[in-house]
Amino acid sequence: MSFNNKSLINKYKDYLPISNKTPNITLGEGGTPLVRSMNLGPSLGCQRLFFKLEGCNPTGSFKDRGMVVAVAKALEKKKKKIVCASTGNTSASASAYAARYGLDSIIIVPSEEIALGKIVQAMAYGAKIIGINGNFDQALSIVRNIVEIMDIELVNSINPYRIEGQKTASFEIIDDLGIQPDFLSIPVGNAGNITAYWKGFKEYFESGKSTGLPKMMGFQAEGAAPIVKGEIIQDPKTVASAIKIGNPASWTGALEARDESEGLIDSVSDDQIINAYMKLTRLEGIFCEPASATSVAGLINLVNNGLDMSEKTIVCVLTGNGLKDPETSQKNSGFSIQTVDPNLHEILKLLKNQK
Ligand code: F0G
Repeated sequence: MSFNNKSLINKYKDYLPISNKTPNITLGEGGTPLVRSMNLGPSLGCQRLFFKLEGCNPTGSFKDRGMVVAVAKALEKKKKKIVCASTGNTSASASAYAARYGLDSIIIVPSEEIALGKIVQAMAYGAKIIGINGNFDQALSIVRNIVEIMDIELVNSINPYRIEGQKTASFEIIDDLGIQPDFLSIPVGNAGNITAYWKGFKEYFESGKSTGLPKMMGFQAEGAAPIVKGEIIQDPKTVASAIKIGNPASWTGALEARDESEGLIDSVSDDQIINAYMKLTRLEGIFCEPASATSVAGLINLVNNGLDMSEKTIVCVLTGNGLKDPETSQKNSGFSIQTVDPNLHEILKLLKNQK
C-alpha cells in the first residue's frame, strides 16, 4: 500500500480530520494542473491569469477531493451505503468511490436536467439512480430526510468531510504559485466549494504557508442567483446545469468567504457563460463545462467594468471537464462534419474552399 503515500489524504494529512483509523484511500484525485493563460488573460490586460483545471480529477470534477475524504470517513464508520442529491458531478464522484471501495451508492437527481456525460458515469459505476420530477433543492431535501431514517452516509457538501477535502485545492494553488493569488474566481452553486477554498486559504495563512489571503469572487448564473438576490429561487434556470440551484446549503459559508475576504458574489448571464466557455476552448485549448466557465465570465465582466487587474495574480477555478456535457458543446460549436470520399483530390478541394 506504499503507493497510497502519494494520495491526497496522505499529502495533506496534517490539515485533514483523519486518524490512523481512517483508511488511506485514493483514486488519484488532486494534484491538478494550474495552467497560465496564453491568450484570454492578455486580451483582458491580465498578465497573470491562471486556470485550475479541476476537470483533470479522476471523475472529471473537483468533487473527488471532497469525496475521497467523505468516503474514507464512511468506511471508518463501517457504513455500507452512501447517498447524495446531485446536479451530476457529485453523483458521478460518489458512485466511483463507492464502486472502488465496495459501498452501495444511491443518487437522487433531477431527471430532466443532468448533463449526459454525468449520468452515463453514474450508470457505468453501478449507482442506484433515482430521478425526480423536480430540482436539485428538492432532491437534497429528500436526501436529508432519508438519512434520518436509514443507516446511510450522506455525501453532499453538508457533510463537513467534503469541505475538508475540497479545501486542498487552495493548498495546491499556493504550493504551485509559491504565494497566494490576489483573486480567486469560482462558480457558486450549493456554495460548498467557495466555503472550502476560503477555509483552505485561511488555514495555510494561519500556518505560515502564505503571507496573505486572496479576495474571493464567486459567480452564480443570473437565473439561479439566490445569494446575489438575497432570496431563495424556487425555480432556478440556467444553461449551466451544474449550478442550477435555488437554495444553497452553504449559503452562510459563501457570505463569510465574500465578506471576510472583502470579495464579491455576483451573477453572469447564460450568454456570458457560453461566451467564456467558447473563449476557453478557442483561445486556451481548455474544454470545461458551462458551470465552470462562470468563473471566467465573471472576471471578463469585472475587467469590462473597469477593474484594473493588470498587476494582479488571478486564479479561475475550472471545476469540471467539458466532456461531461457534450450536448451544450455541440449546440454552441456551430460546426458540422463535412464527409467526402477517401480521395486526396476531394479533400484538397474542400480545404481550398475553406481558405
Ligand atoms: N461547478 C461544477 C462543475 C459543479 O458540478 C458544481 C456543483 C459547482 C461548480 C458548484 O459548486 O455547489 O460547491 O457551489 N455541483 C454539485 C453536484 C451541486 O451535485 O454535482 P458548489
